[in-house]
Amino acid sequence: MTLRAVVTGVGHYLPERIVPNSEFESKIDTSDEWIRTRSGIERRHFAADGETTSQLATHAAQAALNDAGLSADDIDAIIVATSTADLTFPSAATMVQAQLGMTKGFAFDVQAVCAGFVYALANANALIVSGQAKRALVIGAETFSRIMDWEDRTTSVLFGDGAGALILEAQDGSGAKSDRGILATDLNSDGRFKDILYVDGGVSQRSTGYLRMQGKEVFRHAVEKLAQTAITSMDKAGITADEVDWIVPHQANIRIIKGTAKKMDIPMSRVVVTVQDHGNTSAASIPLALSVGKAEGKIKEGDIVVTEAIGGGLAWGSVVLRW
Ligand code: UT7
Repeated sequence: MTLRAVVTGVGHYLPERIVPNSEFESKIDTSDEWIRTRSGIERRHFAADGETTSQLATHAAQAALNDAGLSADDIDAIIVATSTADLTFPSAATMVQAQLGMTKGFAFDVQAVCAGFVYALANANALIVSGQAKRALVIGAETFSRIMDWEDRTTSVLFGDGAGALILEAQDGSGAKSDRGILATDLNSDGRFKDILYVDGGVSQRSTGYLRMQGKEVFRHAVEKLAQTAITSMDKAGITADEVDWIVPHQANIRIIKGTAKKMDIPMSRVVVTVQDHGNTSAASIPLALSVGKAEGKIKEGDIVVTEAIGGGLAWGSVVLRW
């Protein structure tokens, strides 16, 4: 018998305010056409003044609990993947715990920027298969609008705010790839690439800072490393490209998404794409896309889903699961 971490609920939350590309045209030297053709983004959501990452996360968590037919009392671990927590400490995860009215279990944040949700899934899987948690709430939540330099046209048009959440539950499996649940994970980082994507401030510098990115450089690494990590975890799971029902990639740029799918030999008809509506929501992008993919009737029980992401660090990774 093998313990598996099986998805039993999914949900998401997007802040009310939708910002179309055209809103940037009057503020900086850009155009709807440039943003669409270079990134695939058409609009994004921005949190309201005072609306925080843990609040977005809590809404998404509640939606996932409802989807699973569970209450917060049924959860024993919360992991929030974020780089934009409300406070330096405590973690956004403990704030979500309090907002859900939970007084037991444990909660912590994972910080691996845009790869954060994949890292959080791998951590939750490890806790579940080792018997340390039975039901985990795994959330990706971000307010990247708070770290945008609005004068910088090369970054400010690309990011958005939002949150998505999954419930993972321990279930007995056979150890074969026919099991539901997480079948394989692959995590990587290489800190030598810090300067191509980082925030130029932080606690030990007594500042918040703004996101800085050498987009072309990140792009170059992205397609290569995403395809490589996805293929690595598919190999670990014994899954071939033909068996993949859905790639649910990090949603940074439609050209990266297409390039990666092509390298993996998987047609775009089997890729969930939300970048046009959400922009790049960093650690929130994969759970948002999973939730939208399920709501649209694409992702169904039994489907093989491959998620892959890359971001600041560089940090990248992938997870193969049977929904
Ligand atoms: O989620 C974390 C990982 N992040 C990513 O995966 C992002 C990866 N990178 C990208 O998605 C793309 O590199 C970008 C969308 C950021 C940029 O696309 P690109 O095709 O690599 O464009 P570029 O940076 O080479 O810029 C082309 C031109 C430049 O002008 P010159 O030097 O050719 O005259 C830029 O100054 O486009 C200019 N440009 C803009 N023009 C209008 C840059 N930003 C804008 C803008 N509006 N917003």
